[in-house]
Parts: sequence; C-alpha cells; structure tokens
Amino acid sequence: MPRKLVLDVDTGTDDAVALMLAALHPDLELLAATTVNGNVEVAHCTDNTLRVLEWIGRPDIPVYEGLARPIARCDFPTPRAAKRDAKVHMEVLPLPEAKGRKQRLPAPVFLTEVFAQNPGEIALVAVGPLSNVAAAIALDPAFVGNVAELMIMGGAIDKSNVTPSAEFNIWADPEAAAVVLGAGWRKATMVPLDAIHEALISLDQCRRLRALSSPAGEAAAQLIEYRIAGYQANQPTGVPDTAPVHDALCIAALVDEKVIATRHLNVVVETKGEYTIGRTVVDHERRTSRPANCHVALHADRDRFFDILLANFAKRA
Ligand code: BDR
Ligand code: CA
Repeated sequence: MPRKLVLDVDTGTDDAVALMLAALHPDLELLAATTVNGNVEVAHCTDNTLRVLEWIGRPDIPVYEGLARPIARCDFPTPRAAKRDAKVHMEVLPLPEAKGRKQRLPAPVFLTEVFAQNPGEIALVAVGPLSNVAAAIALDPAFVGNVAELMIMGGAIDKSNVTPSAEFNIWADPEAAAVVLGAGWRKATMVPLDAIHEALISLDQCRRLRALSSPAGEAAAQLIEYRIAGYQANQPTGVPDTAPVHDALCIAALVDEKVIATRHLNVVVETKGEYTIGRTVVDHERRTSRPANCHVALHADRDRFFDILLANFAKRA
C-alpha cells in the first residue's frame, strides 16, 4: 500500500520538484499540499503549487493555503525572493496558468483535521518555513500524536545559506521551528543543508531529465537549470554546474531510507542570538543531556537520489 503523506511547501523551484516526485511516485499517495509564506508570498506559493500539479496531470490533489507571515515576527523580512534569491526562485513558475483553485479551509485547520481523521497513518513532510505546522500544534493538542512521522527540510550543521548561522526555512520562522522541533513527534527527521549538498544535481543530469520528454522531466530540467545558473552566480556549490534541490531529497528519503544516513540527536533552534537567529543547534558531539528528538541526515547518496527522480519523472499521471 502506498504511504500517505501531506506536503507543506513554499513553491519555489525545489518545492516544485518535490511536489512532482510526491505526486508521481507509485509508493506514495499525496493527499494534499499545504502552502506557506517563504520563498515567495504565500499567494504565489499556492498558485505555483496548483500550476505544478496540473502540469503533471494531478489536478485532483487539493491545495490548502496557510500562513502569510511567521507566527511571531509579523514584520520579519520574508519572503527573500526579492533579494538575493531572485535567481533561484521565481514569483511565478514558467508553467501554464492553473485552472483549479485553492481549497477554502486554511492549511493549519486542514492539517489538524486530516491527521485527526487518520491518526498514526499519514506522514507530514514540511519543506518550507514551519509556520503552518506550529499553527496546527497550537490549534490541536492532539495533532503531534496523530502524525505518523514528520520529515523536514531545514537547518544546517556546518553550512548556511541565509545568514552565516542559519538555513532559510528555519530562519524564516525561528519561533515556529523551535516549537516544532520541541513538540515530541513519534518520529522526526531533519534533512539539513549538509546532507543536501552531498546530493547536488548537475547540468548533465538535467539533460537526462529533459530527454525523458515527459511533463515532469521537462519541468524538472528547466527548474533545476535555473537553480544551477542562480547558484553559480550567487553562491557556488564548489562543484561546477550543480545546484542543490533541497526539498526533493526529503521525498526521495521518505520512499527509500538509504538515500540519507541519519543519527538520532538533540536539535534545538536559536531564537534570541544577535547573530545566530534560526541556527539549528545540533548536539552531534553529545555535549548536553538533552534527549535525542530528531533523526538528523548527515549524508546523502547522490546517485540514489537522482535515480529516483529519473525513474519517476518518466511517468505520466
Ligand atoms: C530551503 O529554503 C528554500 O529556499 C527552499 O525551497 C528550501 O526549502 C533551502 O534552504
Ligand atoms: Ca521550500
């Protein structure tokens, strides 16, 4: 039986690849997508998500719009698309306009309801700022216990991408991330930048995706090529003609746990530091007695990840 999941996104070029993989993989049943302010304003995240799902022939997957601002920092300067990330994300993805519309229910309400109806049966994969997940926790004390497992793209140990200390998804709503990581899930996995940068996608691999001549293959090639150009211009990866495709790695790891190598560790989020807001403090040397709360991906298997993309983007819905 396919694994059921809900995907929380801030679409976003890499979110788009994650959505396509989650919607097309035969071992997964994507019940819904929820959107959150992040890479671009939430209305654009919703529109982009609808475009992606329609483009690959999955307009049946409902899209719920969530928070337009972080839970505590309503004046926090997100989205950052207008700033240094304009070359990595786009307000409007280059796909045909969507015919479908978002659902009426706000995303955090939908999240509490769908997990309450199926306790312990659905995975929640969150690949944007954690505002919707924190709001769902605040709405329903039973929510955390109802989630079979949580997988997040976020955080970093030795790397960073928005400040010298922090990764974007955590930095963009640090109070939400602190609440989520401290919530006590049945199982939580964090895929930080360190693992993701071991699974970069190259221009040559984009050519192979385009050669599939499928909607997902063509869109993935176009979006990842755009990312590669942006990364090479603004934040080179150290490997020529490559870029990380963060969010899609989480989906690949959900279907094949060998895609990442994890350690069970304690992770907390810095919300007060003058220079360190949004830092994920990972106790990988076990310097504290804080209990492990998260399976942290320390490594990723680049070939395994790409093979999953290639095998599943050949398909049509
Ligand atoms: C994360 O931030 C966003 O830019 C991406 O979509 C990804 O989820 C990477 O730091
Ligand atoms: Ca994202």
